[in-house]
Amino acid sequence: MPTQTPLLAQVDNALLERIRKARHLVVFTGAGVSAESGIPTFRDAQTGLWSRFDATELATPEAFQADPALVWGWYEWRRMKVLQAEPNSGHYAIARMEQHIPQVTVITQNVDDLHERAGSQNVLHLHGSLHQPRCFDCATPYQLDSVPTEPEGGRRLPPPLCPVCGGAVRPGVVWFGEALPTTVLPQAFEAAASCDVLLSVGTSSLVQPAAQIPFIAQQHGAAVAHINTQPIISKHSDDWMLLGVASVLLPKLETQAFSNIRP
Ligand code: OAD
Repeated sequence: MPTQTPLLAQVDNALLERIRKARHLVVFTGAGVSAESGIPTFRDAQTGLWSRFDATELATPEAFQADPALVWGWYEWRRMKVLQAEPNSGHYAIARMEQHIPQVTVITQNVDDLHERAGSQNVLHLHGSLHQPRCFDCATPYQLDSVPTEPEGGRRLPPPLCPVCGGAVRPGVVWFGEALPTTVLPQAFEAAASCDVLLSVGTSSLVQPAAQIPFIAQQHGAAVAHINTQPIISKHSDDWMLLGVASVLLPKLETQAFSNIRP
């Protein structure tokens, strides 16, 4: 049975020590890490995308086939929001971990590019990218030149056509009912199995198979800490739970682990 993880008001020394000694850090991120950059999460009440929009009409291959203009316009609105956004201090703190720890792997469920723009070198995108569309029929990558200017929620916008086969171009994200990218998922599982510390940041950990990643790390002996504005129900009572916003807690973790400041 899942148990409630202990809540920590302070970052405790045992966790800081594990981070200091880590040779391989995995940072597993979800929508919460980009929330303070102005990118909506999925499941937060009222502001979450899936509270305001119907996923079955927008985020499945069947939805795209039924109404490509509806789906393409909605994803162009999301791409516009990402293009207008900047990385926040949480993204930057994650990128700076590479200065302290020999190997850092970012495994993200996010389809934005804010980790890369903050400077992270090794980012695995489990759910694809808004910036890498491809043909629905022949999978040829499509180069997006236009910068979208979409109203809130998007408007119906016919997708471009593939120059190779004439098929409709689709967003480069993983939709419900689709498999995750075949090379990326094994790399992510391997990183989780081989890391010393895993920080799970801003994810509800409800979507499989991504949600297995903290458990894989824990089963292989890594220290696992969740950073979230809400308590996460974990299967492992010895996970750390740091309650608060990622843009504050991540720089705090970095400072306390790698400067002379002690909590
Ligand atoms: P969710 O919206 O399910 O969860 C976001 C989590 O971030 C919640 O647990 C919030 O409490 C937390 N949160 C919000 N703001 C935060 C902040 N400033 N700092 C820290 N935590 C914060 O998003 P994901 O877990 O990323 O899949 O969702 C997983 C997948 O479900 C997404 O990749 C997407 C969606 O359907 C696909 O598109 C395939």
